[in-house]
Amino acid sequence: MLHLGTLVDLLAAAPYVSGEDLAEQLGVTRTAVWKQVGILRKLGYQITAHPRRGYHLVGRPDKLYPWEVRKDLATQRIGKTIEYYDELPSTNRRAKEIVGTVPEGTVVLAETQLNGRGRLGRSWFSPPGTGIWLSLILHPSFSPVELPKLNLLAAAALSRAVHTTLGFRPLVKWPNDLYYQDRKLSGILTEAGGELGRLEYVILGVGINVNQKNSDFPAELRTKAGSLRMMSGRLVDRRQLFCGFLQIFEEEYFYALAQGFERSLAYCREYTATLGRPVEVDNGQRVYRGKAVAIAEDGALIIEAGGERSRVVAGDVQPLTDHCSCWKEESDELATKTEAD
Ligand code: BTN
Repeated sequence: MLHLGTLVDLLAAAPYVSGEDLAEQLGVTRTAVWKQVGILRKLGYQITAHPRRGYHLVGRPDKLYPWEVRKDLATQRIGKTIEYYDELPSTNRRAKEIVGTVPEGTVVLAETQLNGRGRLGRSWFSPPGTGIWLSLILHPSFSPVELPKLNLLAAAALSRAVHTTLGFRPLVKWPNDLYYQDRKLSGILTEAGGELGRLEYVILGVGINVNQKNSDFPAELRTKAGSLRMMSGRLVDRRQLFCGFLQIFEEEYFYALAQGFERSLAYCREYTATLGRPVEVDNGQRVYRGKAVAIAEDGALIIEAGGERSRVVAGDVQPLTDHCSCWKEESDELATKTEAD
């Protein structure tokens, strides 16, 4: 079976390559080469054919094809297996279907999601070709209580990858979003399975807004969401960012398995969009209002109000921007928990 990636590499190795040479190097017939070139064209590769000189690779599509991504991926485990789709309902959903049959570190990737899922039952806007929509399958050896820290670790890894690739550092909004200039650039949806305090699997679903223009977002997101392109003022190489993220994630993940999460937590505390701000946190059962003062060792967010501290392990954080300027004076009032209202 002829690998498309090998054919692309051979085409890229010289300005022109004859069908005969390709057939010989690949050990197939010239007709097989011609058919595969046709497939590459359908996949978006621009390939011209000259009667005497042969095939010429003019351009590659902006797609995250596994053979394109793998060239730059220097990881040992994470992303060594990539399931790539042009279109999926949701990469997390697909990851759940295959979780028992693929190695740890497998990544499900789609150019677009028709039913991308966000946290707390929300949907996630996943248009074709402009973002990175991926789900990473893990089998961590720790207990489910460590999951909040894994989310933070992933957010920290992505923030670092953006910094390396683009030179600016998105801030981590607890529990795992990335923000820059008050716009949400990325979100993470973690889904886990197991029993009796044991994690069988974790699916880490990561959505990154990469090359959207502001007008590409639906009206209701236009003032809240942002993309890396909007922040950096240039088109971003999705392949480079994808590889950078997986590399840093791998480094941090295996470090945390051996040494604990403190290093990632320290990053999230330093580059935070949450700490020091008056916030409202809804954990589904209760709404907390107060000042976000710390991320605890277990990844919980500590909210202080009226001299009392509360721990929140999961939830949705909203900044209380209206109260920012008068936070000190009003802190007691803000301490009121909604359930007591
Ligand atoms: C959030 O609500 O902030 C989390 C968004 C997570 C979106 C990603 S995109 C890839 C993966 N597949 C999904 O359906 N959702 C996650």
